[in-house]
Amino acid sequence: MKNSALYPGSFDPLTNGHLDILKRAVQMFEKVIITIAVNNRKESVFTGDEREHLIKEAIKEKEWRDKVEIEQFTGLLIDFARKKKVNVLLRGVRQISDFEYEFRMALTNRRLAPEIDTLFLMPDEQLTFISATVVKEVAFWGGDLSSFVPDNVAKALREKYTS
Ligand code: PNS
Repeated sequence: MKNSALYPGSFDPLTNGHLDILKRAVQMFEKVIITIAVNNRKESVFTGDEREHLIKEAIKEKEWRDKVEIEQFTGLLIDFARKKKVNVLLRGVRQISDFEYEFRMALTNRRLAPEIDTLFLMPDEQLTFISATVVKEVAFWGGDLSSFVPDNVAKALREKYTS
């Protein structure tokens, strides 16, 4: 698919940082495929379907929503990218500390699939400290999530951690 990119991640759950990267990505590509890693080696709080639903809800009123597809995948990301015939992977880099892991992953993916490149995007600096891990910690202890995640995600987190 020409002028398309995959935006892969766990999205467990979607944060305002992810949304900021997505908003930048749709200005650069005609189609951005949010690619949710499921049955990953990481344990997740939300199922793949829940994560997909939360993303759909969060972007449904954005004017650029038609440029976004959402898919779940298992296995190697490059296999999924090849199946979709997309050769750009987007990753958000928030801080220098992200870079080592991201660089390793990008180069591993390149070794496995030389035709696929990783493009790093930076979120707004106000959002650089936000991570899904931090958000879950705040949710666990009942903190205010309103500046970290979209409203529907905050609601879902509250339900998860109070049920
Ligand atoms: O949001 P995350 O957890 O940082 O996303 C990491 C993800 C899902 C993009 C990465 O773990 C991944 O691509 N997993 C699938 C397996 C794979 O292809 N690994 C890359 C080789 S290191």
